[in-house]
Amino acid sequence: MRLGVLTGGGDCPGLNAVIRAVVRRGVLAHGIEFVGFQDGWLGVLQDATQPLGIAETTGILHRGGTILGSSGTNALRVEGGRASVAATLERHGLAGLVVIGGEGTLKCAAELADDGLRIVGVPKTIDNDLGGTDVTVGFHTAVQVATDAIDRLHSTAESHDRVMLVEVMGRHAGWIAVYAGMAGGADAILIPEHPFDVDEISRHLRHRHLSRSSFSIVVVAEGALPVDGTVELPAAPLDENGFPRLGGLAIHLAPEIEARTGFQTRVTILGHVQRGGSPVAFDRVLGTRFGVAAADLAAAGGWGRMVARKAQDVRDVPLAAAVAERNLVPVDLYREAEVFFG
Ligand code: F6P
Repeated sequence: MRLGVLTGGGDCPGLNAVIRAVVRRGVLAHGIEFVGFQDGWLGVLQDATQPLGIAETTGILHRGGTILGSSGTNALRVEGGRASVAATLERHGLAGLVVIGGEGTLKCAAELADDGLRIVGVPKTIDNDLGGTDVTVGFHTAVQVATDAIDRLHSTAESHDRVMLVEVMGRHAGWIAVYAGMAGGADAILIPEHPFDVDEISRHLRHRHLSRSSFSIVVVAEGALPVDGTVELPAAPLDENGFPRLGGLAIHLAPEIEARTGFQTRVTILGHVQRGGSPVAFDRVLGTRFGVAAADLAAAGGWGRMVARKAQDVRDVPLAAAVAERNLVPVDLYREAEVFFG
């Protein structure tokens, strides 16, 4: 059997762990040969390939990024995309594709699978917003990076009696904000799932500074939303696929908070540093388990399905179910984080 492998969408730490495990398991247990496609769906459309065997995937477990490269290209938004993907698979004599991606990449995979293309999915994104799985590759590394940053901001916030706004990624889900905020002892966490009222936050910060502390850490998810009619925020520009390109919310919030509290307020936007560098142990293990499971699933003909983690087990679910609904922060988790606000 011959299989293609691609990594699509925003990169994240742990992708190389998946690629290594897919190849190692595929070659050793099932005698599969692999072809690597460069830069996600773009490589399939343009037939840009690279060798992908045990030699090419040795020594990459701990490395961030992806040896295959990635892009946001959606094969279905390109004219003739479907036919072009099918033609490339045919040309290389591929039985199917292992697609390692987030929401956009796997939505495209699910539609192509509906059309009869043989695809196995692997969920990855620092945002942790895919359905069907408890957790995605890359999330825990992003949380650790954000937590380390919050730890560092604590001491300087305290020295200067400041309010520190720390903006984290996550798109329309507040997972990174809630996890890093809880781990870093944030005094408030703003997430998309729970619209914020800047007057209420400012009251809360004033009360905190008057009663027991001279500084505060506020974690702001890039996709957090104000309660309707409270503050005006500029609309986000759109990316190549027509989705809002988020980032910078904290810059607009800081003067609003400073004006209402009188406390010096500073902004740190963590940005892509959350996606870079070495994966934490959790993502290396998760990526490895997902990779092994994906090779087994493809060998067994489990097309149109995605490997997933449920509790401690790795299983598989229909690709379509994974992209049908976003995985968002549940109210109960946010309530637990709120216990420590203020
Ligand atoms: O989906 C992962 C992610 O890092 C989001 O958290 C963020 O909003 C977006 O990608 C950034 O995208 P880009 O790398 O295109 O700027």
